Amino acid sequence: MKTITTMYFSPTGASRKIANGIAGGIAGTGTFEQKTIDLTKPQAREKTYEFRSNDILVIGYPVYGGRVPAVLQNVLCGLKGTATPAVLAAVYGNRDYEDALLEGQDLLAEGGFTVLAAGAFIGEHSYSAKVGAGRPDAEDLQAAEGLGIKAAEKISAGDYLEVAVKGNRPYKDPMPDMPFTPKITETCTGCGLCAENCPMQVISRENPTQINTGCILCSACVKLCPQQAKYWDAEPILKIKQMLETKFVERKEPEIFI
Ligand SMILES: Cc1cc2nc3c(=O)[nH]c(=O)nc-3n(C[C@H](O)[C@H](O)[C@H](O)COP(=O)(O)O)c2cc1C
Repeated sequence: MKTITTMYFSPTGASRKIANGIAGGIAGTGTFEQKTIDLTKPQAREKTYEFRSNDILVIGYPVYGGRVPAVLQNVLCGLKGTATPAVLAAVYGNRDYEDALLEGQDLLAEGGFTVLAAGAFIGEHSYSAKVGAGRPDAEDLQAAEGLGIKAAEKISAGDYLEVAVKGNRPYKDPMPDMPFTPKITETCTGCGLCAENCPMQVISRENPTQINTGCILCSACVKLCPQQAKYWDAEPILKIKQMLETKFVERKEPEIFI
């Protein structure tokens, strides 16, 4: 039996929803075994994964600075395929995804995968609830499912040709170092949810106001805090937020490559 493996790195949940939508589309076309690997968890990023030629890999990640998030680049590069078909989703915050799909496709190709279908989808922006607000929504999830169905058709027809995705080589320059961390208000109850869910495990469990080096500015803690006790006050991030809320609120639609 073929196995569909759904992998995602998804600090604020948008990429997870899209990857699950795509996998659901594929799964609806036949009988498959299904597995999920959440690369948001640091331990999951340290394991090695091998895939057979009759497996199907679905993978979703957020776009960071028009690229694959730096923390994920080695992980993608280390996946071992055997001419394994893969479906790729880059999820961006309604600004642009630039080279994130092409880079993901290249990294997977190095490991022996053929990306035969891909999509760029929109998720609420990590730094603003007004940019890409409420995305992915029902229409986005339908588009994700549709991509899965089309990918499944290609696979069952034996059409294992690499799909051409948008993007340029050399890729966009990496994002500059931004050594900031979210601030915390007195409404923090010390529940530890942020520490538990931090993809980099840099928040102290005993004292969540203490953040060690290695924060990737993903906003997982800011968005999941039930008290809304976490916030950004670093000037460069506030400027990005303002720029996004001025220039990138108009709805963008998913782009499908098949
Ligand atoms: C460090 C960082 C860089 C980002 N860069 C971009 C970008 O270049 N373009 C864009 O549209 N959104 C960008 N975003 C927004 C995320 O791609 C978007 O919010 C995505 O939905 C987050 O996915 P997740 O919910 O799976 O974490 C960035 C977010 C972060 C944290």
